[in-house]
Amino acid sequence: HSTKVGIIGAGPAGLTLALLLQRKGIDCTILENRSRQYVESRVRAGLLEQNTVDLIRELGASERLDKEGLEHHGVYLSFNGVRQRVPFKELTGGRCITIYGQQEVVKDLIQANLDRGIEIVFEAHAKHIEGIETDNPSIFYQHNGEEHELTCDFVAGCDGYHGIGRQHLPKETYNEFRIEYPFSWLGILANVAPSSDELIYAYHERGFALHSLRSETVSRLYIQVDNDDTVDNWSDEKIWEELSIRLGTEGWNLQSGPIFEKSITPMRSFMIDNMQHGRLFLAGDAAHIVPPTGGKGLNLAVADIRFLASALTNWYENQDDSLLQSYSQDCLRRIWRAQDFSNFMTYLFHKQAPHGSFENLLQKSKFDYIGISKAQATTIAENYVGLKEI
Ligand code: FAD
Ligand code: DHB
Repeated sequence: HSTKVGIIGAGPAGLTLALLLQRKGIDCTILENRSRQYVESRVRAGLLEQNTVDLIRELGASERLDKEGLEHHGVYLSFNGVRQRVPFKELTGGRCITIYGQQEVVKDLIQANLDRGIEIVFEAHAKHIEGIETDNPSIFYQHNGEEHELTCDFVAGCDGYHGIGRQHLPKETYNEFRIEYPFSWLGILANVAPSSDELIYAYHERGFALHSLRSETVSRLYIQVDNDDTVDNWSDEKIWEELSIRLGTEGWNLQSGPIFEKSITPMRSFMIDNMQHGRLFLAGDAAHIVPPTGGKGLNLAVADIRFLASALTNWYENQDDSLLQSYSQDCLRRIWRAQDFSNFMTYLFHKQAPHGSFENLLQKSKFDYIGISKAQATTIAENYVGLKEI
């Protein structure tokens, strides 16, 4: 069959693109290789920037987010037990972040897509794309054991880091940048009330730890582990003990509870400096990965989509391709900013060098500077909540 915009991937990027296009009367179809149940229960991010919340509201898909999302107006940063708070309100002119699980975002966006009659084909495996240098590219995919072809005007590769979209960009059109960090995150979800009213990012000489949450009864926590570590090495008891040491500060206690999710995620910075060729446009994790310290990945995916939706709308409504031409450049300003901030936060809070070494003492000095300098605290706050105009 055929459509105007063929979207590969029903993650935050693909789902928001479809909703923005549908509002302008532009037909699209989403192909997603997993089942609905799988994508709705995949545990990942939880931190939404103001821009992301604003977009979900604009799309009329924020009913549950408005009820259940938790607004945070500051963040705690800790270095070997010394904790300080960075307030957002006074440093960013009233902006804040919202805690709401990515799988909840995905559930709400899928429902909104289906309510508006947008076609999502689940368990549709996109295999290859043809004709991106013509006016009628096609996506070839497998569904229910059969081969299908989706013909369209444009292909949006919103299919994540492991997708096929990026593989179809000619190699000579981009430079690739990559850092693989020598540590990973062990993330847990636990049925216990959060022990802190705001997130805590902590450096400790035993390694990084992060206290986050999902609701008043569910906590989300992470600890730095080695790349070759496995969840089997981490009993619930050992996880709580380690978190308690790394997050600890005088007069504060970490409450523990039953852990119901445990997984290890590697950390990488990855990007390409061109996200389009002919009629193929990449967005989100398909084009860039940031290490999770700072919570930028999902937000960056949605920020790309704002540009892509405007560019496609301008093409369909005004036969003007200028925004399509400048798409990559328009996205890259924000992507580079997020790459820098995520890398900065990763180096600031992870253990990389021996305790007491020159590198480690520079790390401590950077941390102390946040408390001394309003300029440094502002730099962190404005990047963390997400720059508005960029
Ligand atoms: P994805 O969500 O990966 O969606 C891509 C979709 O494409 C998937 O559903 C996939 O199944 C589908 N697909 C892939 N290949 C094909 C194919 N061949 N055919 C059809 N479909 C295909 N980000 C934040 O902003 N804040 C955070 O707090 C945060 N924390 C994180 C914590 C962890 C532990 C992890 C792992 C990530 C975190 N991120 C965070 C990153 C965030 O989850 C991603 O950046 C986000 O999911 C990107 O959205 P996307 O739509 O680009 O890609
Ligand atoms: C969460 C994840 C992050 O990477 C982060 O920086 C903050 C919060 C979370 O899952 O809640």
